[in-house]
Amino acid sequence: MSEPKRVAVTGAAGQIGYSLLPRIAAGEIFGPETPVILQCLEIPPALGALKGVAMEMDDCAFPLLRGVVCTDDPKEAFKDADLALLVGSKPRGKGMERADLIRENGPIFVSQGQALQAVAKSDVRVVVVGNPCNTNCLIAMHNAPELPKRNFSAMTQLDHNRALAQLAGRAKVHSSHVRNPIIWGNHSNTQFPDWNFATIGGKPAQEVIGDVEWLRGDFISTVQERGKAIIEARGLSSAMSAANAALDHARCLFKGTPEGSWTSMAVCSDGSYGVPEGIMCSFPVTCRGDGSYEIVQDLKFDDFGKAKFEITVNELLGERETVADLLK
Ligand code: NAD
Ligand code: LMR
Repeated sequence: MSEPKRVAVTGAAGQIGYSLLPRIAAGEIFGPETPVILQCLEIPPALGALKGVAMEMDDCAFPLLRGVVCTDDPKEAFKDADLALLVGSKPRGKGMERADLIRENGPIFVSQGQALQAVAKSDVRVVVVGNPCNTNCLIAMHNAPELPKRNFSAMTQLDHNRALAQLAGRAKVHSSHVRNPIIWGNHSNTQFPDWNFATIGGKPAQEVIGDVEWLRGDFISTVQERGKAIIEARGLSSAMSAANAALDHARCLFKGTPEGSWTSMAVCSDGSYGVPEGIMCSFPVTCRGDGSYEIVQDLKFDDFGKAKFEITVNELLGERETVADLLK
């Protein structure tokens, strides 16, 4: 058994937290040989509920769990953290876009960025789930200027998984046969879910599906609007699938992407694909398993893809303007 990994989870008493904590404690990020300590952050009114969640965690008697910290102090929650999953923030309701949350949720990531810099391990990996996640991640990163920018990422894994599921459904195969779709841009309804490099059973997805109209139409809009469709159906935003995606994202960072595969992650742009430097944009990335990632290079857009990518990048630039006062 190795040293325990300290995993901070914000909003731990919320919907996503409830699906996420037991799976982290069961070893689904770091594997069956690595104990974990969960460091849960909540706001004061939710500490009672968090206590109940901690009682349930005790009652699971997880073999790998070495402790559960429950606190409303970010400096206690992030102390010596190896991984911080920033979930805590308001979800949108019916009729809202994720960007409508920006002024309400953005400030949360100012103080949390500062606390991460103050007390987390210098190689902490910070994964932002709370919406609008790309721009909240940008805020956290700017407020932790001494932490490497490459330690920060925001979650578009759920969109990636949705793309896998849609392509698999259309091709009538299991999703495990589908590889390498890409989510470009923002975790919003401007994102560009790209099938052009995806394969199904080793063949180009477009060749297998054979219906470009569907790919350019319903495939894109279904993935873009899936979050909204779930809110319409459930009355609440996605939680089980969001927690599952957060685990997939963190597992890619710490265990690597499989040979020949990439995933999608919003990371700080280094100018790849002409994206202005410094915004958190979703790209295809590969991970070695040491917490690092590389943006997959040299993929070519056709005119359709180029136009879609431009729209979503422009939205990210606009969001950065909206929170300019929160960026150090
Ligand atoms: P929820 O309301 O069930 O839970 C959120 C929790 O965060 C609550 O318990 C709340 O008390 C807590 N919280 C609020 N402010 C906090 C703060 N400053 N510090 C710590 N905790 C705080 O919401 P949820 O369904 O768990 O969703 C959480 C967030 O994740 C929302 O913003 C939602 O839109 C987002 N989300 C993102 C994705 C994605 O793909 N990136 C997917 C699903 C949900
Ligand atoms: C999702 O994609 O399901 C989440 O971002 C929640 C939402 O607001 O759509």
